[in-house]
Amino acid sequence: MGKINKVGVVGAGMMGSEIALCFAASGINVVIHETSLDLAKKGKERLSGILDKSIKKGKATEEEKEQSLNRIDLTDNFNGFDSVDVVLEAVFEDLKTKKDVFSRLDKICKPECIFATNTSSMPITLLATSVSSDRIGKFIGAHFFSPASVMKLVEVIPALDTDEESVTFMIECCREIGKTPVRVKDVAGFAVNRLLHAMWVEACRLLEEGVATPEDIDLACKFGLGHPIGPFALMDLTSNDLNLKVEHILFDAYGERFRPRPVLKQLVDANHLGRKTGRGWYNYNK
Ligand SMILES: NC(=O)c1ccc[n+]([C@@H]2O[C@H](COP(=O)([O-])OP(=O)(O)OC[C@H]3O[C@@H](n4cnc5c(N)ncnc54)[C@H](O)[C@@H]3O)[C@@H](O)[C@H]2O)c1
Repeated sequence: MGKINKVGVVGAGMMGSEIALCFAASGINVVIHETSLDLAKKGKERLSGILDKSIKKGKATEEEKEQSLNRIDLTDNFNGFDSVDVVLEAVFEDLKTKKDVFSRLDKICKPECIFATNTSSMPITLLATSVSSDRIGKFIGAHFFSPASVMKLVEVIPALDTDEESVTFMIECCREIGKTPVRVKDVAGFAVNRLLHAMWVEACRLLEEGVATPEDIDLACKFGLGHPIGPFALMDLTSNDLNLKVEHILFDAYGERFRPRPVLKQLVDANHLGRKTGRGWYNYNK
C-alpha cells in the first residue's frame, strides 16, 4: 500500500468525528466535510473533550492533543477532497443522502482515491452504484464500531465489484491506525450485527418467558460469559428504536430467527428508547 497522506471524512457526527480522530492520532492529515462549518466545529470540539479525558487517564499528552487536532481541517464545500487518498463516509443512515455524497465525491476526488462507507445496514453493493464504472472497483465498506476512537474492530466489506487491491488497501489502512480489521461478505447485518441481534432476540425471549430479569441477564452475561456489558444495558446505549429497525432488516433477510420481539416493540411504542430518552430497559432518571 502506498503511504496514506491525507484522508477525507464525510460527516462529523458520533462516528465520523471519532473516525477522523483515529487517523489524526496516527499522524495522518484529515479533512472533514459537514453540511455546515458549525456542525463540523461541534464535531471537532467533541474530539477535544475526548482527548482531554485521555490526558486525564494518562493515555495522551497535551502536545499530542494539539498535534492531533491540528491535523484536522474542516470544510462545508469538500475543499481539499481533491487530494485525499481515501474517503470515509459517515453521514446519516439514509440511502439518498449517501448516494448524493458519493456521486459528488466521484467528480471531485482523484481517480485512485478509495471510497469507504461506514453504513451499518445498507448493502455495500447498492451504495457502490453511486459512483462511475471507473471507480466502482475502489468502493468498499469499512464498518467501525462505537465509540470509534476506542473500539478496535473494523469489518471490511467488499462489494460485488470491489477489486482485491482495494480490499488489501483498506485492511492495511485499518492496521495503520491501530485497528483490527476482519473481512466480511456483503450480507445483511454483516457479521457482528447478526451475532449481536441473535443474542438480543434471545435475551428478550428470556425476559418474556419470565426466566430472569434484565438486571440478572446482564449480570449473567458479564460474569458468566465475560462480556464487558450485558445485553439490556447495551441495547439502551445503542437505542432501542435503532435496534428495532435493524431487527426488521435482519428479519427481512433471514426470517423467523430475527423476528423482533413484542417486548422490544412495546418499549419503542412507549418511547423508552434507552439512555437518550432517560428510560429504556433501565430507568436512568432515578
Ligand atoms: N452510531 C453507531 O453506533 C454506528 C456504528 C457503526 C456505524 N454507524 C453508521 O455511521 C453512520 C453515521 O452514524 P452516526 O451515529 O455518526 O450519525 P450522526 O447522526 O451522529 O452523524 C451523522 C452526521 O452526518 C452529517 N451529514 C448528514 N448529511 C451530510 C452530508 N450530505 N454531508 C456531510 N455531512 C452530512 C450530519 O450533519 C451528522 O453530523 C451511519 O451510516 C450509521 O449507520 C453508526
